[in-house]
Amino acid sequence: MDKFIVRGGNKLFGKVKIQSAKNSILPLIAGSVIASGKTVIKNTPKIRDVVIMCEIIRFLGGKAEFLGDDLHLDTSLVNSWSLPSNLTSEIRASLFMVGALICRFGYASIKRPGGCRIGERPIDIHVDALKTLGVKVDEGEEIVFSGKIINSGVINLRFPSVGATENAMMTALRGKGVSTIKNCAKEPEIEDLQKYLNMLGANIKGAGTSVITVEGLSKNNSGEIVFTPYPDRIELGTYLFALGAVGGEIEIHAETFKNSQSVINFFKDNACKIHIINDKIYNISISDTLRSFGKVCTGPYPAFPTDLHPQLVACALNANGITAVEENVFESRFAYANELKKFGAKIGVYGKLCLVEKSVLRGANVVAGDLRGGASLLIGALSADGQSEIKNAVHVDRGYYKIEEKFSALGAYVKRVSY
Ligand code: UD1
Repeated sequence: MDKFIVRGGNKLFGKVKIQSAKNSILPLIAGSVIASGKTVIKNTPKIRDVVIMCEIIRFLGGKAEFLGDDLHLDTSLVNSWSLPSNLTSEIRASLFMVGALICRFGYASIKRPGGCRIGERPIDIHVDALKTLGVKVDEGEEIVFSGKIINSGVINLRFPSVGATENAMMTALRGKGVSTIKNCAKEPEIEDLQKYLNMLGANIKGAGTSVITVEGLSKNNSGEIVFTPYPDRIELGTYLFALGAVGGEIEIHAETFKNSQSVINFFKDNACKIHIINDKIYNISISDTLRSFGKVCTGPYPAFPTDLHPQLVACALNANGITAVEENVFESRFAYANELKKFGAKIGVYGKLCLVEKSVLRGANVVAGDLRGGASLLIGALSADGQSEIKNAVHVDRGYYKIEEKFSALGAYVKRVSY
């Protein structure tokens, strides 16, 4: 097992290269099963969730390998629709494979998928959507989906679930007519999936809005598909909140700012200055102590992302005044707060509301319990006086590739050691 050793207090200076979005890449890997051929996903980080999805592709009979920063997939020989329980229990995104496998084979089976421990994470919205399309679902220890014949129809999601929107899109491709998905999630990563599936020959419209229409896929494009996903807005936000916490000046490619307006806006209104050097480069600096972020409510896109809530809280510990964060997506996302308190953080959690006060932070030994919570502990440690240890680096590795090297390149002291 690995842990991070962090010595706090250093400001951050330098360039940050942002990876392609994890939440685009994972459904794209699943979608590649529909291609029955070759796909290249550009600028793909070798983060743990991606590595596990690649293992699932190999288990099913396909190929997945990295050449430099690009992920090369070949799903022409995929010959199984039964997902391996040892891998699916580790990663919730394995659930995306269900829609792709139904589209290709008419069947899929999976044990209950895993993922971060940030709430109940049921799958009823997925199941209801697939049932509307005519899929028969047998829910035992193993959940078996049978959908040889898919009806086209209208799906009304009870909540705009990202994964259920993506699963419904892929399943509906097996239908003959046009399906409509209402109350869809509008996350930009869904646009990436739409673009990719349309490159395969599908006719999907509406991603990025709350209504998506999907026309049955009659014939696959047979050539190799090269796809560049959106930049990872959560990785970008993590570096911005780290910068907010400790100060300094970082340079980021302008392209990276796509889809990050909600985060940038309230940064711009604070002590942060964004200089546009040219149409390619943005320079972001913190010249003064941050002011409170006021009240921030997480919610489905375009609201503030739940995946940045813990990092925002760690940053707000360095801001004058009180910041309030209301968590509206995952009910149990506050486990990290107890660990932040070990640094001396003044945080109060009241149901789904969290109040954060400027605090004097001292180094401490803490344990990461989930991916984004782990990132917030890193930000806490970077802004604390003295040395900290963050155990369970594996959680952070699910979403950030060699984060210790990226922070070190910016002048922070972050080392990875085994224990
Ligand atoms: C995706 C993201 C994850 C992000 C989340 C919310 C990927 C790979 N992961 O996860 O990083 O935190 O969106 O933006 O894209 N729900 C149900 N029943 C269901 C499905 C979901 O009740 O069948 C609930 C969940 O418990 C949660 C909420 O809906 O409270 C949102 O979940 P959802 O949008 O489905 O998240 P994921 O797709 O799993």
